[in-house]
Amino acid sequence: MAEQKKIMRALAGETLDTPPIWMMRQAGRYLPEYKATRAQAGDFLSLCYNPDLATEVTLQPLRRFDFDAAILFADILLLPQALGADLWFVTGEGPRLSTVTSAADFAKLKGPSDVHEHLSPIYQTVRNLAGELPKTTTLIGFAGAPWTVATYMIAGQGTPDQAPAHKLRIEQPEVFDALIELLTDATIEYLSAQIDAGAEVVKLFDSWAGSLSGDAFNKYALAPTTKIITALKARHPNTPIIAFPREAGDNYIGFAKATGADCVALDNSVSADWAAANVQVDGCVQGNLASRHMVTGGKDLVEETRAIVKAFSKGPHIFNLGHGITPDANPDNVQLMIDTVRETASA
Ligand code: CP3
Repeated sequence: MAEQKKIMRALAGETLDTPPIWMMRQAGRYLPEYKATRAQAGDFLSLCYNPDLATEVTLQPLRRFDFDAAILFADILLLPQALGADLWFVTGEGPRLSTVTSAADFAKLKGPSDVHEHLSPIYQTVRNLAGELPKTTTLIGFAGAPWTVATYMIAGQGTPDQAPAHKLRIEQPEVFDALIELLTDATIEYLSAQIDAGAEVVKLFDSWAGSLSGDAFNKYALAPTTKIITALKARHPNTPIIAFPREAGDNYIGFAKATGADCVALDNSVSADWAAANVQVDGCVQGNLASRHMVTGGKDLVEETRAIVKAFSKGPHIFNLGHGITPDANPDNVQLMIDTVRETASA
């Protein structure tokens, strides 16, 4: 029964004695077994597009840790690639893409429903996982939110301040708006297909939402998220959706209500006490331990984990980090975090 899964119960608004736990980037370079499988695949993208190996790395953290969820192993930049952008990863640096900075560049991209053939290995990974996961583990699918994906497509790489995307949005709003609309519609297609393949929850990563403010936040973070959630709810009314407008600050307030999200994921720039009073009042929240504790461990980790569990204990909460775990993390600290969450909750 899906409703027996702790994550599904929290997403339905239930306050649990012990919050369910999973971790962003739980399959990743801090695990030697991940690095071995990636080497077997050849490189990161080959791993993403190999359903057997992507299934294997998704399951690896669950063999070490008693997490309540598995997150599909893929990347938010596979969707732009499916739309026709070139994509490659430079070791030690990160992603590189062909850029979209003009109407002519935009015109070369494919349409929203053209993405499925390219993404079919990802759907196969989801089907594999749906068949292999333990009965208590929730399978989470995901995509990038349009603004965040657009920042990479416009700059052709990650940027500290998203300046190329802001420049396009101000100087060529018609090109920028068309790109956001295409990404919004393609994301609906992509997430809907993940749900059809067996994803029980989907999450939208808007990692750079914090660089938008005022009207721009409403137009490019809130509105596309709302359109995606509305369309997914019409097609899949029983699939909960987690929205992560990272570093949204005060814009976290009311975000769930405005977008229809079942849960808002919080980064660690907001305090848990503030978020309990201002965000959790509207429903489930996820977060928000700083990922540096997975490197530093010890008393700081324990105290901060306890404070977060306590702050969110009066409402629905899924315990997670505030951002992805980093490659220099020590897996022993992950176990310490899990033990601390469960001991604090039962104390
Ligand atoms: O959380 C998970 O374990 C699921 C898989 C997942 C990955 N990326 C795997 C990955 C998810 C959900 C993502 C999301 C993602 N990808 C985001 C949004 C979340 C965030 O971190 O803000 C973004 C912005 C990307 C784009 C991306 N992918 C960047 C900027 C990088 C390079 C930085 C880095 O950490 O190396 C990636 C690579 C990437 N995506 C790796 C993994 C495991 C590392 C690649 C490797 O193994 O070398």
